[in-house]
Amino acid sequence: MEPSNRKTMTNTRPHRVIYDTDPGVDDAMALYFALAHPAVEIVGVTTTFGNVTVEQAARNALYLLAIAGREHIPVTRGVAAPLVKHAEAPPDHIHGADGLGNLAQRIANRNTLDPRSSAQFIVDMARQYPGEISVVAVGPLGNLALALALEPQLPSLLRQVVVMGGAVMEPGNVSPVAEANIWNDPHAADLVFGAGFQLTMVGLDVTHQVILPVSLFAQIAQHHQHLATDTLHHAVAFYADFYSGLYPHVAAIHGCFGHDVLAFVALTHPEFFTTETGRIRVAVEGLAQGQTMMRRKDIAYPQSGWESTVPETRVCMQVQVPASKQLIERTLMSQWLGA
Ligand code: BDR
Ligand code: CA
Repeated sequence: MEPSNRKTMTNTRPHRVIYDTDPGVDDAMALYFALAHPAVEIVGVTTTFGNVTVEQAARNALYLLAIAGREHIPVTRGVAAPLVKHAEAPPDHIHGADGLGNLAQRIANRNTLDPRSSAQFIVDMARQYPGEISVVAVGPLGNLALALALEPQLPSLLRQVVVMGGAVMEPGNVSPVAEANIWNDPHAADLVFGAGFQLTMVGLDVTHQVILPVSLFAQIAQHHQHLATDTLHHAVAFYADFYSGLYPHVAAIHGCFGHDVLAFVALTHPEFFTTETGRIRVAVEGLAQGQTMMRRKDIAYPQSGWESTVPETRVCMQVQVPASKQLIERTLMSQWLGA
């Protein structure tokens, strides 16, 4: 008999997660993976600018939850712009002007925003459930940076933080060295890497290894016959057109990178990853803006900024690709949607 995927049937302590996100196609994929996974309980969705404006990100989060029958999960609106640098225009050509591949229509949804800011929500939850809440952050990191300003003890109040962002060995995706989430708010990212969270970085080093074909999402939609998976399939098809236009090896399977979903894979199945631990700093300006630099040798460098006061981050360097793809497929094919 197949093991049940229902949350009530699992013996493992579920991860109580605040999902900090800028939906975004791979953000939507990651949200649905998290809702479907028996070891994850999403206790709130905090939104930020990034793939779309923060208003659109909040609208999308509410919509994705509503059509999946999860209207009860609180959604907040967060930062609308980077802490210091000027905001970049949202990448409509990657995620669509609406962030979900330009949906032809939407049904009405009645769930509304929690009135708190995303940063305040993170702080409130961390104080209410000390040591229990994990934050999975898959957009620019301004909400976490603001939450740190509101509550400097946040690193010891949270269980852990998993960030999708950055790159150590892999080239960047917005410049030769910078990954989009970090580049969108490098000052916030440097604060977060320096704060002392129990922090895992899931960057392009691993997300560029996992290519997911559109056919998988067609199969998932066919299996569920549900608006939520139809919406995801539509969005992924748009997103895959972009990536297939960019990379021949992705075009070969008409696929896309799963980026944000890998952050949840790292949360639930850390054994799929090979990691290195070291100090991370972010270049905040100049040509290297947004680069995540890692101290990989135990050397006392003459340049300041790399002292032992910089906390260590666990950085994912390799991932078991077939195991991750099977997990994503198995989870999204499970019975996680009501009728
Ligand atoms: C990251 O940037 C965004 O476009 C994606 O949603 C993902 O979080 C990948 O670089
Ligand atoms: Ca994202």
